[in-house]
Amino acid sequence: MAGCCVVLGSFLFEYDTPRIVLIRSRKVGLMNRMVQLLILAYVIGWVFVWEKGYQETDSVVSSVTTKAKGVAVTNTSKLGFWIWDVADYVIPAQEENSLFIMTNMIITMNQTQSTCAEIPDKTTICNSDSDCIPGSTSTHSNGVETGKCVSFNESVHTCEVAAWCPVEDDAGVPTPAFLKAAENFTLLVKNNIWYPKFNFSKRNILPNITTSYLKSCIYDAQTDPFCPIFRLGKIVEDAGHSFQDMAVEGGIMGIQINWDCNLDRTASLCLPRYSFRRLDTRDLEHNVSPGYNFRFAKYYKDLTGNEQRTLIKAYGIRFDIIVFGKVGSRLHPTNTGGLPLLLVLCDIIVLYCMKKRYYYRDKKYKYVEDYEQVGTACAPGSPSTSSLLSQ
Ligand SMILES: *[C@@H]1O[C@H](CO)[C@@H](O)[C@H](O)[C@H]1NC(C)=O
Repeated sequence: MAGCCVVLGSFLFEYDTPRIVLIRSRKVGLMNRMVQLLILAYVIGWVFVWEKGYQETDSVVSSVTTKAKGVAVTNTSKLGFWIWDVADYVIPAQEENSLFIMTNMIITMNQTQSTCAEIPDKTTICNSDSDCIPGSTSTHSNGVETGKCVSFNESVHTCEVAAWCPVEDDAGVPTPAFLKAAENFTLLVKNNIWYPKFNFSKRNILPNITTSYLKSCIYDAQTDPFCPIFRLGKIVEDAGHSFQDMAVEGGIMGIQINWDCNLDRTASLCLPRYSFRRLDTRDLEHNVSPGYNFRFAKYYKDLTGNEQRTLIKAYGIRFDIIVFGKVGSRLHPTNTGGLPLLLVLCDIIVLYCMKKRYYYRDKKYKYVEDYEQVGTACAPGSPSTSSLLSQ
């Protein structure tokens, strides 16, 4: 009870105000400078130099453009001798931070709006017209059923549909990939970066790269690590996958550009680092609906004015360019965390650790009584130090 009373009493009835005490002592003076030196050494050595605690950091702002190059030849019964250039296999012509290259396709030519036999599966195979419901569709239908049962080939009958005919048969994906030559296509990636806080900008075509080097170089982690032209086959292989397997069913590749820099060093040492990884997971045990594909069509009118189209189911590799990076610089010291310690530590040593601590404490704290004594139990906890003054 008494202890509680004392604490409450000192909380309510006491007020402290700072007082400057100048201690004229070689021992204390030297110790003070020693401690300051130690803390200074800690701040400069550990925080500044080792931990870079004073660095200000910034994240990258970036823009990317890409350009693919390469020509392929195919010779098939459907298309005959056919040349494929950039305008054919890059879909769409331009994208943001991304580029799709068609590597495989299922092409269905000369489709018109008419009626024809649906692709056989367990819901479309029929024996008579009564198996087909006019007007019905399902999610996998190519068209709307007319209610007739017609022959798909010599042995199989399927329900007739009103659709773009002939309907696409995508049961078998061409293997090897139709445009397997895409392995040797190249991709030029132009990347400009900017660190706004430091107003530092740079591009991945470095100042020392000449026009003739850029015309002939191909990126290689060992021999040409700063060449911004990548062979598609190498990108996929560097990520640990087979290009020809990926070309068959499509997929997504990440081209990562890392711009981590220390701006305290010269700007010429701030260099892009390239790495590659496959972004669509390919788990061999759960390989349901693998890869990447989509459909598009090219429309035209035949000589009689009927609308026709060529339907293409395109499989390919989408290259996503991912730019990241962080810079640090000591130029903007914002953190001075260690410094307040300087002021407090010496006080602690002088007032609590030294032999003459009671003397110093008595000089530092002056107790001024300005109230009537209420009672012995609740007397404010002023340690009567008069006996120690004699020191
Ligand atoms: C890619 O180029 C190399 C060297 O010119 C050639 O040997 C290889 O057959 C080409 N790959 C394809 C798929 O055409």
